[in-house]
Amino acid sequence: MNILVIGSGGREHALVWKIAQSPKVKKIYCAPGNAGTAELAENVNINIDDIKGLLKFALEKKIDLTVVGPEMPLVAGIVDLFEEKGLKIFGPNKAAAQIEGSKVFSKEFMAKYDIPTAQAGIFTNSKEAIAYINNVGAPIVVKADGLAAGKGVIVAQTVKEAMAAVNQIMEDKEFGAAGDKVVIEECLVGEEASIIAITDGETIVPLASSQDHKRVFDNDEGPNTGGMGAYSPAPVVTDQLMDTIYNSALEPFMVGMKREGIVYKGVIYAGIMVTKQGPKVLEFNCRFGDPETQPIMMRLESDLVEVFEKTVEGKLQAVNLKWKERAAVCVVLAAGGYPGKYETGLPISGLDKISQLKDAYVFHAGTKGPGVLTAGGRVLGVTALGDTIKFAIDNAYRAVSLISFKGMHYRQDIGKKALKCLRKRARI
Ligand code: AMP
Ligand code: GLY
Repeated sequence: MNILVIGSGGREHALVWKIAQSPKVKKIYCAPGNAGTAELAENVNINIDDIKGLLKFALEKKIDLTVVGPEMPLVAGIVDLFEEKGLKIFGPNKAAAQIEGSKVFSKEFMAKYDIPTAQAGIFTNSKEAIAYINNVGAPIVVKADGLAAGKGVIVAQTVKEAMAAVNQIMEDKEFGAAGDKVVIEECLVGEEASIIAITDGETIVPLASSQDHKRVFDNDEGPNTGGMGAYSPAPVVTDQLMDTIYNSALEPFMVGMKREGIVYKGVIYAGIMVTKQGPKVLEFNCRFGDPETQPIMMRLESDLVEVFEKTVEGKLQAVNLKWKERAAVCVVLAAGGYPGKYETGLPISGLDKISQLKDAYVFHAGTKGPGVLTAGGRVLGVTALGDTIKFAIDNAYRAVSLISFKGMHYRQDIGKKALKCLRKRARI
């Protein structure tokens, strides 16, 4: 098969890496890809927002299956466009992708189908939004309705901060039309977990659980980022909790989509807050998580291409995923200054030393060749397996210690929460 993967992050490198292990695959293309994908696939210089260009390429190269990484092309309708031309593509169509493309749609959908989530108000007018904030008080969360490159959610600790966020989104239009509406919601407290599942519109197959590390600094301090590291499995997600999440969020999600007349195929990712009252959905995403996909792919034994094919064909029922009984940890190496301003074009050293390590692999995110230079905020995802989470952490940081570039920074505490959770359980 000829496969096209769309995107250029650590997520896409991990997908390409896993796809490359399938005996079904003849050739992989990655658009636009990075220096890591270039080693396993042919990078194609087409941007993720050029969906007509991607279609033309897929037709020309007789692509048998396209896999979409980021949300943007999904929300823009790439699946509908490819399917109209009879091309196989893994991901939800435009109507289905609204679950991530519009926080208002998502919130109304969750309310309609009784999916536990934060209490919220929806506003099209900044004065009303501010009056609501004054009434409810802080902490409070302000969310732009549309896609905002991961920057549209502000967890405000004070009323003043929340008001400033509303003004930024609705008056200054920092995210353009994505800020025509806002969702203002209750600030939930607890531990977060990522539940990523694949569905063909009927059957839901949850992947192994994982946990992201959103804040830039250790101990969850500093501003939010795209994710500074992840591990799988997440011990906070016990089998019992997974059942609760399946029954209270994933199953009603599918029932709801069907009632809305939407055939939802592809990834459904529930960002969960495990609160004292039980798990609540922070948001649904219509794509794989990044960095979560990096440790998840390292643990997956099954043929990913077969899973994608069965999803597209509506035959997921026949799929039984197999996982390595080991833990995986991914530590993101970020550019100096990230998530703020940062430099690019810096040489990276030590990558050649990693290939000698048995259990570690470096997924590239913001890199470009030739010679592997930094090209983004999140530069690399150093990912390692271990027989326990503790060993996986040690293996990942051992690999990290071999790599360097000017200004590089990373969190030192990736996986600590898993250890804490396991220790607490051992004491009970
Ligand atoms: P979202 O894009 O909606 O997942 O939000 C990004 C991040 O903001 C989440 O992963 C949480 O860390 C945080 N967040 C979003 N909604 C809430 C909420 N209602 N309460 C607390 N934190 C939240
Ligand atoms: N890791 C968070 C996300 O992919 O949205």
